[in-house]
Amino acid sequence: MKLLVCGGAGFIGSNFVRQRVTEHGDAVTVLDKLTYAGREENLAELRDAPGFAFVRAGIEDPEAVADAIEGVDAVVNFAAETHVDRSIAEPDAFIRTAALGTFVLLEAARARGIRYVQVSTDEVYGSIEDGSFTEESPLLPSSPYSASKAGADLLVASYHHTYGLEALVCRGSNNYGPYQYPEKLIPLMVLNALHGDRLPVYGDGQQVRNWIFVEDFARGVGHVLAHGAPGETYNVGGPDEAVNLEVVRRIIALCGASEDLIEYVTDRAGHDRRYSLRSEKARALGWEAQVRFDEGLERTVAWYRDNRDWWEPIRSGDYRAYYERQYGRALGR
Ligand code: NAD
Ligand code: TYD
Repeated sequence: MKLLVCGGAGFIGSNFVRQRVTEHGDAVTVLDKLTYAGREENLAELRDAPGFAFVRAGIEDPEAVADAIEGVDAVVNFAAETHVDRSIAEPDAFIRTAALGTFVLLEAARARGIRYVQVSTDEVYGSIEDGSFTEESPLLPSSPYSASKAGADLLVASYHHTYGLEALVCRGSNNYGPYQYPEKLIPLMVLNALHGDRLPVYGDGQQVRNWIFVEDFARGVGHVLAHGAPGETYNVGGPDEAVNLEVVRRIIALCGASEDLIEYVTDRAGHDRRYSLRSEKARALGWEAQVRFDEGLERTVAWYRDNRDWWEPIRSGDYRAYYERQYGRALGR
């Protein structure tokens, strides 16, 4: 199969591309703008794989998209701005990429009549106290990030309804694992714990997230691509839920750090309390998560411990300025 994978140099996209090339023998073109979150190094070992190509461009660029989509069988779109805290501080790029970028990709897929998978998030449903969201739950996004994702999902659905495009949406829960940029909870806490830096817990730390190991989610997207029905949405959630403070404590234990590093900081504005997904529809396609949270977290901590070359340039670059703005103190203090 020949795939165009947008946002394939990011965390989940690069894990997906690695699976497609090494396990399925797909020819993959990655189109990625390489924002702060995208890195060609994430795909380094695939550079010489047959049929692999990399294009640096934004999904909102119609000419670049038209060139890259030539001859492909399907498009999988991971490209997005993805960090809730950044969406609160600077929402502009979130809206541009999700709305305009998704529109440009849908038009290109429509012009060629090819299958299109939009990668989305459980955050479009908003927060849930008890129980879990199904694909029928209403969309009630809380942050500019989740609202931008919900808007893109609705546009994708309209292209199926109006033009008959073979479009599908795949909504994941919180991913964790190798290659995740250390602005997100798990890699941030792992790197800070390994360095003996303080561990900033938002609010009371009692928020709950539904964690999925990135390779399980990438495989779920592959199942939706191969077996999903056009016009349908599939939730792909993880096997375990965990309270944030408990996640931080487990990371401290795995890193051999001290609980004294925990510091309660000002809560995120509009912070969603709990996310939880039911994934029966995806299971009916033959997908099942393989990695439980305990095992996945151990593998993730080991990966960051062993891959200093990957994160050292991040921790010494622009990330320092981001960290200072976000946490009001320099990294390492
Ligand atoms: P990420 O931030 O690590 O990667 C995003 C990638 O998209 C980067 O490579 C970036 O360079 C690229 N990109 C951003 N704007 C672009 C543009 N305009 N044109 C082309 N490329 C652009 O994100 P991630 O965590 O890998 O998330 C990938 C997708 O999965 C996103 O759509 C996200 O909403 C969704 N998702 C993420 C999670 C999670 O927990 N991380 C959970 C569910 C769904
Ligand atoms: P995050 O990884 O940003 O994912 P999301 O907000 O999309 O679920 O955050 C996961 C949870 O961890 C969320 O409840 C916010 C919390 N959090 C902290 O307590 N401290 C931090 O420094 C970060 C980045 C997140």
